[in-house]
Amino acid sequence: MAQSNEYIVIKAKEDGVNVIGLTRGSDTRFHHSEKLDKDEIMIAQFTEHTSAIKIRGKVKVQTAHGEMSSED
Ligand code: TRP
Repeated sequence: MAQSNEYIVIKAKEDGVNVIGLTRGSDTRFHHSEKLDKDEIMIAQFTEHTSAIKIRGKVKVQTAHGEMSSED
């Protein structure tokens, strides 16, 4: 099963950040776009529908693999 229990935490550092979910499987396409304004936080998982997440804008991201900032 593709679902994991891990979450990723995304904190927007500016208005208008886009968090985009990409589909799992042979057809990789956007299926959801979520807009975050400054200081809004999204907590998300990789699911059977979502295999990748693309983030546009300045954010701080925490994952099990570490913490990163889009500005660094
Ligand atoms: N319905 C989507 C899913 O279950 C929701 C989702 C999960 C999502 N993780 C995401 C949307 C990350 C955008 C980014 O897969």
